Amino acid sequence: MSKTSTFTGFYKLPLEERLRIVKDFANLTPEEASLLKKTGALPLELADRMIENVISAFPIPLGIAVNFLINKRDYLIPMAIEEPSVVAAASYAAKMAREGGGFFTTSTPPIMIGQIQAVGIKDPHRARMTVHTHKEDILKKANDQDPVLVSVGGGAKDLDAKIIHTATGPMLITELHVDCRDAMGANAVNTMAEAVAPMIEKITGGRIYLRIISNLATKRLARAYATIPKEAVGGEEVVDGIVQAYQFAAADSYRAATHNKGILNGAIAVVIATCNDHRAIEAGAHAYAARTGHYTALSSWEKNQNGDLVGSLEMPMAVGTIGGAVRTHPIAKIALKILGVKSANELAEVITAVGLAQNLGALRALAHEGIQRGHMRLHARNIAIAAGAADELVDIVSEQMVKERKIRMDRAKEIIEQQRKTRK
Ligand code: MEV
Repeated sequence: MSKTSTFTGFYKLPLEERLRIVKDFANLTPEEASLLKKTGALPLELADRMIENVISAFPIPLGIAVNFLINKRDYLIPMAIEEPSVVAAASYAAKMAREGGGFFTTSTPPIMIGQIQAVGIKDPHRARMTVHTHKEDILKKANDQDPVLVSVGGGAKDLDAKIIHTATGPMLITELHVDCRDAMGANAVNTMAEAVAPMIEKITGGRIYLRIISNLATKRLARAYATIPKEAVGGEEVVDGIVQAYQFAAADSYRAATHNKGILNGAIAVVIATCNDHRAIEAGAHAYAARTGHYTALSSWEKNQNGDLVGSLEMPMAVGTIGGAVRTHPIAKIALKILGVKSANELAEVITAVGLAQNLGALRALAHEGIQRGHMRLHARNIAIAAGAADELVDIVSEQMVKERKIRMDRAKEIIEQQRKTRK
C-alpha cells in the first residue's frame, strides 16, 4: 500500500503523535526519532508554539566573529551559519578594516511600506487625488490599530498613491509609510493595511485585493562604509584586484548575484542568530540590487587618493529587536545581548557592516589568490625560458609546471626533453 501524506488535523495532534507518524512514514530508526526530540536550547514546547506541525528543532552552528569596530565601538558578532570559513573571513576582514578605524554606519528611520491594491477604477487619476485628500483620515485609521507603536513615536506617518498599468488594467496602489521603531513591523503594517482598505475602497470606488507589507524596504535603509589601508589589505595590487572584482559585479548580473551572496553570507548569519526574518532581508536585498532595472552589486569598492581601499554598502534592512521570534527564541535573546544593540536601527547598521566585511573577505581572497596564481604563472614562464624553452613550448612547459605545482629548473628541463621526443 502506498503511503499518504494527507492528514486532517495533523496540527491538532500532540507533538509526540506527529513524530510517531513521521517516524512510521519515513521508517526512522528509534535512534533517529529520539535525536529529533533533543532540541537543546529551544525547548520542544516553545518550538511547538512558534510554528505549526512541529516535530523537532533544527540546530545550526553559532559562531562569533571578532575584531569588529563599528562607529568606534567594539562588537562581538553572533553568526548562525552552516558554511565553513564565513566566520573566519568576517573576523579577518574586520581586522583589516580596524586598521583604518573600523566601520562607520548610518540608517534611515525604520519606515516600512504597506501596499493596498485597488482595481477596476474607471478614473484612477481622480481616485489617486482622492486618496491624497483623505490622507489624514487614512493615517488616523491606521494609527488607531496600534496605540502602543504610536505611543513610542512610531506609526503611520505618511502615504503615497501610484497608478500602475497591468495586463488586467490600471490599478491604484496606496502605500502606507509606517515607522515601526524597534519591531520588524510586518504585523503592525499588515494590520494597518487591512484596516484602511475599506476606507480606500469607499473613496476610490475600486475593489481592494491585496493589503500587505512590501519587502522592498527602500525607506528603511542601512549603510556602512570603511577605509582599509592598502598595507592592511595586502598592497596596492590587491586593492586594484578588489576594485576590478567589484567592477565585474557592477557590470555583470551573473557575478553580481555571487558578489551579493557573499554580502548575505555575513548579513544573514546575524539575521538568523537574532531570529529575524531572513527571507524578508534576502528578498529586499535582491530587489534593491535590481532597482534600476539592471541587477547589480549592492556594495561598491574604490581606491582613494592614498591608494587605500574604500568600501560602502547600502541595503534595505528590516530587522527588529522586539516582537516576533526575536524575543521568544532563547538563543536569539542571548545573541542580542552579545551584540549589545540598543535599537533596531543599531542592529540594522551592525548587520550591514558585517555584510560589507564579509564581502571584503571574499573579494580579497578571490583577488589575492588570483594575483598569487598570476605570479606563479609568471614565475613558471621565466623558469621555462631559463631552461631553454622557446615559442609555444614556453606556455606548454609553464602550464604543466603550474598544474603540477613543481616550478623548478630540473622539472622544466624534463618537460622540454619529453616534448622534444614526442615531436620527433
Ligand atoms: C561563497 O559562499 C561566497 C563567495 O562566492 C562570494 C564571492 O564570490 O564574492 C566567495
